[in-house]
Amino acid sequence: MIDAALRAAAVPPFHAMAMAREAAALEADGRHVLHLEVGQPSTPLPRLARDAVRAHLDEPLGYTNAAGLHPLRHRIADRYAGVSHERVLVVAGASAGFTLAFLTLFEPGDRIGVLEPGYPCYRNTLLALGMVPVPIPVGPQSRWAPTPAHLEAAGDLRGLVLASPSNPTGTVLGADALAEITAACRTRGIAVIADEIYQGIVDGPAAARVLDHDANAFVVNSFSKYWSMTGWRVGWVVVPDSVVDTVERLQQNLYICAPHVSQVAALAALDATDELDAHVARYAANRAIVIDGLAAAGITDIAPADGAFYVYAHVAHLTTALGIDSLELTRRWLHEIGVAATSGVDFDLARGHEYVRFSCAGHGADMVEACGLLAGWTP
Ligand SMILES: Cc1ncc(COP(=O)(O)O)c(C=O)c1O
Repeated sequence: MIDAALRAAAVPPFHAMAMAREAAALEADGRHVLHLEVGQPSTPLPRLARDAVRAHLDEPLGYTNAAGLHPLRHRIADRYAGVSHERVLVVAGASAGFTLAFLTLFEPGDRIGVLEPGYPCYRNTLLALGMVPVPIPVGPQSRWAPTPAHLEAAGDLRGLVLASPSNPTGTVLGADALAEITAACRTRGIAVIADEIYQGIVDGPAAARVLDHDANAFVVNSFSKYWSMTGWRVGWVVVPDSVVDTVERLQQNLYICAPHVSQVAALAALDATDELDAHVARYAANRAIVIDGLAAAGITDIAPADGAFYVYAHVAHLTTALGIDSLELTRRWLHEIGVAATSGVDFDLARGHEYVRFSCAGHGADMVEACGLLAGWTP
């Protein structure tokens, strides 16, 4: 028998995926399940992208340049002021972008700040690479934003991972907050990695972008969410000039390139704004349904979401009364009323047992039905 190396074996699960698996198993047994657990659009590839893919299927679609198709890199670079296409590399989803960023910027043993609550794969990818994720607990006091005081409390850091809008809260870092935290990082020599995957999905004005405040930040973005392409595994990074060659060499060796057909789809999807903006409007409407519906179910302590498609709710009144944590609470909801949601333990090791994340990416009718079931649920 071969054992996994200690470090790999110690990487924690991504509970949202485990919950999705449990929900799928119930459905396979004929149960009706309402999916508010996984953070992915329920819509297909945009129509323009489907057409482009069909038109390319008879072509070889072999490897592309490691850095990606030229027209796609150019179109992505055009989204930023003063960024040349050479600094843009197309990658196999934001997930590959994080690995490339961490390997480029850090050594095993380096301490990297990750916000709690935050997307768990930052922490778990760092662990898999032998780096040390340092939790930075944010909360309502700073509107879930990291501040220079948080950095001070975290001690010596080589890097900081920011996300705006954030998963699970959906809060956006305002321009002032972003300017302040990036300036503090600069002063302390802390490299900033900014996950901007949810930037297309905001209710109000466009979210502030890290490159407008820190020209040396490492940006990670993806076609997964706004462009409704999770399964196509395609995203991009914008990297400082000084590391373009390093990132490209890592990409050649680790991934060769992002999937060719997905790059074709991504290029066409960039023109599908009308179709995709309609999804964004639906996510906002769904979020309002869920917030109202949860209030009717007695769940009212909710992080202020400016974007993404999540509602992050404090459910301590339920977990305390029942003497269980939010993992057990979400399991009970799944099995007793067929509502799948994600425990906060994925996002926050310290306080997540009192929180649940609801994803509003699905259909409005499902949100209404799920909230009705939660309101009628008797523990
Ligand atoms: C904040 C955040 N970043 C990255 C990802 C993963 O993105 P990708 O599908 O592009 O790998 C997710 C997926 O849920 C996410 O929520």
